[in-house]
Amino acid sequence: MPEIIRWHTPVIHMRRTATRDTELAGKTIRQGDKVVMWYVSGNRDESVHAEPDAFRIERPKVRQHLAFGAGIHRCVGDRLAEL
Ligand code: HEM
Repeated sequence: MPEIIRWHTPVIHMRRTATRDTELAGKTIRQGDKVVMWYVSGNRDESVHAEPDAFRIERPKVRQHLAFGAGIHRCVGDRLAEL
């Protein structure tokens, strides 16, 4: 199941507003900037998932995906959705 939702990633993106200046992967983000989170891109990050476009239910750390978001806004219905 986790590999299905990683590979498909039903929620494509959401947006946040930066609450402070920071830097992410060499890019400067200023307080107040609008930042789009592409879950689908994170789930195809080759530095995290080997051959990310391949569908492999036996992946190591198969639950390490972003299809339900991360942090305090992580999907509260994730377990229900998995059922
Ligand atoms: C395949 C099904 C689902 C997917 C892919 C999904 C995905 C997501 C994602 C990506 C977020 C945003 C996380 C973020 O902002 O970082 C989210 C938030 C949320 N989801 Fe889901 N979700 C699913 C099903 C459900 C279900 C079944 C429920 C409730 C029964 C639910 C309730 C919520 C709620 C209440 C939030 C907002 C949480 C917050 O902002 O604190 N979701 N979901």
